[in-house]
This record gives sequence, structure tokens and C-alpha cells, in this order.
Amino acid sequence: MNKIFVFSALLIIPLLTFSLTSPAKVEVVEAETGVYDLLLELGTAPYDHAGSFTDKQRQMGEDIVRCGQTIGPDGKMSSYVSKYYVCTTCHNLDQEDPDLRISDPEARLPYVKSKGLPFLQGTTFRGIVNRESWYNDDYVRKYGEEKIGKAHNSLRGSIQLCAVECSQGRPMEVWEINAVLAYFWTLQWNVGDLDFSEADYQRVNRDIQNASKKAELKDWLKTFYLDKSPAHFFDAPPDKAVGYVGLKGNPDTGRDLYELSCLHCHKPEGVSHYVLDESKLSFRHLYDKIPRDTHFSLYQIIAYGTYAIPGHRPYMPHYPIERMSKQQVEDLRSYIELMAL
Ligand code: HEC
Ligand code: HEC
Repeated sequence: MNKIFVFSALLIIPLLTFSLTSPAKVEVVEAETGVYDLLLELGTAPYDHAGSFTDKQRQMGEDIVRCGQTIGPDGKMSSYVSKYYVCTTCHNLDQEDPDLRISDPEARLPYVKSKGLPFLQGTTFRGIVNRESWYNDDYVRKYGEEKIGKAHNSLRGSIQLCAVECSQGRPMEVWEINAVLAYFWTLQWNVGDLDFSEADYQRVNRDIQNASKKAELKDWLKTFYLDKSPAHFFDAPPDKAVGYVGLKGNPDTGRDLYELSCLHCHKPEGVSHYVLDESKLSFRHLYDKIPRDTHFSLYQIIAYGTYAIPGHRPYMPHYPIERMSKQQVEDLRSYIELMAL
């Protein structure tokens, strides 16, 4: 009797752990299939930031991202991660690029406008679990592998770096980071978010049955989206009165930038003391500073932002070229000129 019990327990335990930790096996690829599940099926090594999470964790994570705090495992309201911002001050939660293969701010602007989303310096959290590196390119060059290495190669590390540096907040506790990750997994790309044609679905459903085709299929799948958010910095023009040579601003696009980006933070009751609105006063102030050597100049503030200093922590992140193009800076300038005069 005992022997039979032990024997069946031995059999059941591995079965149980298997079904708890391994993702659903992908047999038929449909719009709802998770891109990560499909990658695993095609032989990708599991991501460090993958795991099994509970609904409770997902809810806590969403609270932290949207509101900066949540009711923790001890049943008490946690303190704010940052006194100044919430994550959504600088990051969207929805798709913001019409084509997931390209990070282009000029294509992004009309797209976010049509969805009623702001246009921000930080990359969207939608699909962030599908990326394989974070704080890329010039962020690594600027801050050095030493400081940024842990964030560049790890989503957990990025969450922590951003809580402390970008949001000028406190370090997050392990349960908080796990909660945010749990929430991030609800924002992963599904195959339906990729630009798949009928023929693409047929190809993947045919070749997935064929072990020798899997590696090729994996590489092909990854051509449908960016597995990192590129970030390159740019400089203010040498002569601010002249601006970026050869580009003529479009004030209609400039208005969208002003409303969807600048006002997101500078509206009354926003995160900045420097309040902007649609009044002549706001536009005149910005207009007068454009050619000057001051961080109030559009060229300066967009390319370099401001820094957190002791005694005054809120600062403005700069825009990498993938988050605002030089053409768009000129568009904004032409709108401000139009409204100031
Ligand atoms: C004041 C603005 C600001 C706030 C607030 C902020 N971030 Fe960020 N975050 C950035 C910027 C700028 C980057 C630079 C990289 C990028 O997103 O392109 C970044 C990058 C990240 C990245 C890496 C993204 C990537 O793909 O490179 C993660 C993860 C992240 N932030 C998480 C958070 C979380 C979680 C919070 C809230 C606790 C938060 N951030 C709050 C500005 C901010
Ligand atoms: C993610 C939030 C955010 C966005 C978006 C943003 N800013 Fe800022 N900006 C800030 C914060 C925070 C400061 C720091 C000033 C403060 O202490 O309130 C700042 C500072 C500035 C300053 C210097 C003000 C001073 O008192 O030193 C200017 C000028 C400025 N921003 C213009 C802009 C313009 C123009 C845009 C749109 C292209 C823009 N900002 C977009 C958050 C933002």
C-alpha cells in the first residue's frame, strides 16, 4: 500500500512541476498566441525575466506603474516609489508605433494622436517583456557599462534603475519589482500584434511541425518586431537662431507635439513647476529663449533635458532622436513662432 503511494507520488510530482513552470505548448499559431510562447517552442532559451505570476501580483504591479503605490503583502499601503512622478509620466502602456519593426518618431506622432496617447521620452511598456536589452546604444555609451550593465542586460535591473535614477525615487523592493514584471507580462506582444499575412500564418503553422525548420522560423519571427528600443542622442544646432539647417517647420505638426508632449508634463497641476498653456504668455516666453544659450531654449531642453540637483529633484529627461526628430523640433519651433507673434 505504502509502496504504491510513494510510487505514484514520485510520478505525480514531476508532472505537476512540469505543468506549473512550463508555458503552454504551442501547437497551432493564432492571433492570440504569445510571441514569447512561440519563441520558446522554436527553441529560444527562456528569458531571465520570465516566471509564473499571480493575478494579485499583476494587479499590484499595475497599481505601482499607474499610481506609484499599492497595498503590499503586509496588507499596508506602500510608500510612493517616487515623490515626483509615476511611471506613466514618461512611459505609455499601449502600442505607440504603427510598424513594430521601426522606431520612427515621425510615424509615431500621428499614430499616438489617433489613439489619444501622449508622445513621451520613455519607450512604451507594451512589448517591453519581448525586448532582449534595455537602455541601449547611447545610454550605454553615456553612463558606461559599469553603471548601466545591470539594466542593459536585465529587465529587472532596468526597472530598478529607472525607479531610482529616472524617477528620482527610492529603490524598489523585490516584491514590487516582481509585481511590475507580472504586470509587464500582461502587455506582451501576441502574434496578432505583428504584421502577419495569411501566408505568414500558413508558413508558421506548416514549418512549426518540422524540427529542422525551427531555427530559421525563429529568426524570421524576430524580423516582425524590434527586440530592443534604439536610443541615439543628438545635439542642439551650433547656431540656435538658424536652427537645424535645411529643415522647414510645419506648425500643425508642432501643435501636436506641444499638446501631446510638452503639455503632458507642463500643464497646470502637472509634474513641473514650469507651467505652459495655450496663452500668448507661454508662447512668448518660449519664443524669446529659442536663440539663447539657456536650458529654456527649445533646442537645449529637447536635446539635453535638465538634471536633478540636490534640493530640486524633478528634472526633465531629454529626447533621443528616436523619440523626437530634428524635423519635429523645427515643427515645434514654427508653431511657437506662429503663436507668439
Ligand atoms: C521622468 C521620466 C521617467 C519616469 C517617471 C520613469 N521612467 Fe522609465 N525610462 C525613462 C527614460 C527616459 C528611459 C530611457 C530608455 C527608453 O525608454 O527609451 C526609461 C527606461 C526605462 C526602462 C527600459 C526601457 C527600454 O526598453 O530601454 C524600464 C524598464 C523603465 N524605464 C521602467 C520604469 C518604471 C517601472 C517606472 C516607474 C517606477 C519608470 N520607468 C519611470 C524615463 C522615466
Ligand atoms: C515627462 C515630463 C516632461 C515632458 C514631456 C516635457 N517636460 Fe519640460 N520639464 C519637465 C520637468 C520635470 C522639468 C524641470 C522643471 C521643474 O523643476 O519643474 C522641465 C523643465 C523644462 C524647462 C526648463 C524650465 C525651468 O524652470 O528650468 C523647459 C523650457 C521645458 N521643460 C520645456 C519643455 C518643452 C518645450 C517640452 C516639449 C517638447 C517639454 N518640456 C516636455 C518635464 C517634462
